[in-house]
Amino acid sequence: MTDESATELNNLANDHERLRTQYAEIATLAGGLAHEIRNPLSTIGLNLDLLSEELGECDSQRDRRILNKLTVVKRQCQQLDRILDDFLQFARVGTLTLKPADLNQTVLEFIEFYAPQAAEQGIDISPHLAANLPPVKLDVNLWRQVVMNLSRNAQQAMPQGGVLELQTYQRDDQVVLEIIDNGKGMSSETQARMFDAFYSTKKGGSGLGLPTVRKIVEAHHGTISCESEVGRGTRFSIALPICN
Ligand SMILES: Nc1ncnc2c1ncn2[C@@H]1O[C@H](COP(=O)(O)OP(=O)(O)OP(=O)(O)O)[C@@H](O)[C@H]1O
Ligand SMILES: [Mg+2]
Repeated sequence: MTDESATELNNLANDHERLRTQYAEIATLAGGLAHEIRNPLSTIGLNLDLLSEELGECDSQRDRRILNKLTVVKRQCQQLDRILDDFLQFARVGTLTLKPADLNQTVLEFIEFYAPQAAEQGIDISPHLAANLPPVKLDVNLWRQVVMNLSRNAQQAMPQGGVLELQTYQRDDQVVLEIIDNGKGMSSETQARMFDAFYSTKKGGSGLGLPTVRKIVEAHHGTISCESEVGRGTRFSIALPICN
């Protein structure tokens, strides 16, 4: 290697390190900011509750108008709180506790918990779980968020009901989980932007569900891909390396 290319490589490594430090600083600041906003927000929420309680006992037209406006402000506070929650969850994906686990087991546990609320919306959960699936390394708590976020998106894409298919199988040295819905599907613009932080097409959506999913999957050394067609549905596929 020439002296010149060695210096160039060295400069690149320094730039990379500097950017990494800057990123970590910004991430810490943003996390701290979210925390700082939460406390006054919860005080605002509590005081709004107290005010509503007081007004609830009066029945003049004016009081009722004020009460309605308080309800709107309270709803906005709850919405902000949810965004902060999602953001903190996104920022928190750091070090994982990976242990060999049976992916099918995690899917079955999820179905047990989720099926009742899915049924209320006319959604059938249809599991197709491969027998003798080799174990994968999972941080089970974080993993639950992956299955939950993808299933909730699927549910929201099928407001009139539908089928949510959860499929597992082995592909070479990977185990794959597919989450398939026959809901409204995504336009190509949404598909191009769906993993962008804060991108959402939903009223009240924080747009942090999929970025969090991707971050967790990548922290498991896995990959995520998606196929979707407007009016037909969406399939998310996650591939994880088999334990060795
Ligand atoms: N299964 C799906 N079917 C149709 N559209 C989807 C599906 N999953 C994701 N999307 C689209 O991708 C966008 C981003 O999804 P993401 O989960 O990140 O945010 P969100 O669901 O809008 O809000 P949040 O998850 O924070 O409540 C959604 O707003 C929606 O347009
Ligand atoms: Mg979502």
